[in-house]
Amino acid sequence: MYRHIINPEKKKGHINPEIQGHFSEHLGRCIYEGIYVGENSDIPNKNGMRTDVVEALKEMKIPVLRWPGGCFADEYHWMDGIGEKASRKKMINTNWGGVVEDNSFGTHEFMELCEQLGCKTYINGNVGSGTVREMSEWVEYMTFDGVSPMADLRKKNGHEKPWTVDYFGVGNESWGCGGNMLPEYYADIFRHYQTFVRNYNPDKKIKKIAVGPSDKDYNWTEVLLNKCFMGQGKFPQNYGYMNGLSLHYYTLPYDWDRKGAATGFNEKEWYMTLNKTLFMEELLTKHSAIMDRYDPENKIGLIVDEWGTWYDVEEGTNPGFLYQQNTMRDALVAGINLNLFNKHCKRVHMANIAQLVNVLQAVILTEGAEMLKTPTYHVFKMYSAHQDNELIESSIDTKQIGLEDSYMVPNLSESVSVDRDGRVHITIANLSVSEDYEIESTLLGKEIKAVNGEIITGKMDAHNTFENKETVKLVSFDAVSIKGDKLNYVLPACSVLHIEVTL
Ligand code: AHR
Repeated sequence: MYRHIINPEKKKGHINPEIQGHFSEHLGRCIYEGIYVGENSDIPNKNGMRTDVVEALKEMKIPVLRWPGGCFADEYHWMDGIGEKASRKKMINTNWGGVVEDNSFGTHEFMELCEQLGCKTYINGNVGSGTVREMSEWVEYMTFDGVSPMADLRKKNGHEKPWTVDYFGVGNESWGCGGNMLPEYYADIFRHYQTFVRNYNPDKKIKKIAVGPSDKDYNWTEVLLNKCFMGQGKFPQNYGYMNGLSLHYYTLPYDWDRKGAATGFNEKEWYMTLNKTLFMEELLTKHSAIMDRYDPENKIGLIVDEWGTWYDVEEGTNPGFLYQQNTMRDALVAGINLNLFNKHCKRVHMANIAQLVNVLQAVILTEGAEMLKTPTYHVFKMYSAHQDNELIESSIDTKQIGLEDSYMVPNLSESVSVDRDGRVHITIANLSVSEDYEIESTLLGKEIKAVNGEIITGKMDAHNTFENKETVKLVSFDAVSIKGDKLNYVLPACSVLHIEVTL
């Protein structure tokens, strides 16, 4: 039996809903087809946005959406995506398949999408090939409520009132596709560009995100923070001019040359993948330790704005479109990472899985008018119970499992939070392909009145197809016995479980 100790009296930090955020890039069939089909499409839509996709994402409680990239962001010129659609400039998507885009999805369409979804907005600006003026004018266009060249242009294009930009990324992967810069250089660029990301509405300040490291590039974090905090002696409230520092880390079973298949993998690849994804824990800990030295009060968020699995593309699909299936293995990857983000919620203020629809570890796949929810979708829906809660102290006994010494993993992953009404939410994942485990969760000093459980489980590469959309889905889980402050249950192999506890 595995002892799971929960101390509801020990609050460990606030779980920002944005920890469960998403990312949508102009890449493959994410925006076009996956989300936006245009007003004249036969696929049911509202102002061009697929109704089925919007409804599913609302049900999953999507809290925030990042757009337009990714690598695409550093080649995106926002003015090409406004005004009369027929006369918008076409552009080559050089990063992703070299396809020509007609710019019919631009700023107005993104804002419309977020309004339909009821989620926050995270816009990523162009540093790599854009100018300070271009970035500054985009912010003015979107957020200024008054008379100005950009606000007037927005009104002329049919939107009288400004929108809210909750987060603004000053470049993307500036160490790579965003300009191949060194951290010393980017630090100056960031200080410069962010100056002109103006806050026109003091009640709705834009949170500025600096380009942070790629996985374990601790030097990037150190140099950037060092240079951004320089000369701020008198103004420590500037916090290095940033509200967030991004971190990108993808889970590849093998490496960039041969990533591994999304389906039809073996047990060894299962454990390799989970082992690789668990590296996130070390990344969060070590980057946070550097940030702690500059910002001990956790004012600057670590923004994991690209994470998730990256496999070889599905056979017969465009290699530049990054289309992959999604199995129970992805459900485990999602559960493990969301538990980690919860545990690190003091520092991790937002995270955005890559990407929303039809790209990488997507929550939704589409084919023509058809849509399906992936196992990852169901995990996000389940974990939405943690949004806006307080993390509470918890720990669990584990043992190491796996097939090879170098790819061992702990058998269990968990996190626990309490919501505003005092209900406790336990999410727990079983990383074993074959073993069930008996768990005893103890809520120290509490009398448990009732529980409600939901679970996702199946064979390791179980997935949903357009022929069979519900092979993997959430089902209720009643096999929990209550005794005083304890819950006893058997957690099936290869599963993610949510138990809501009423005290
Ligand atoms: O998500 C796909 C790509 O991965 C993004 O465009 C880029 O930022 C990262 O390298």
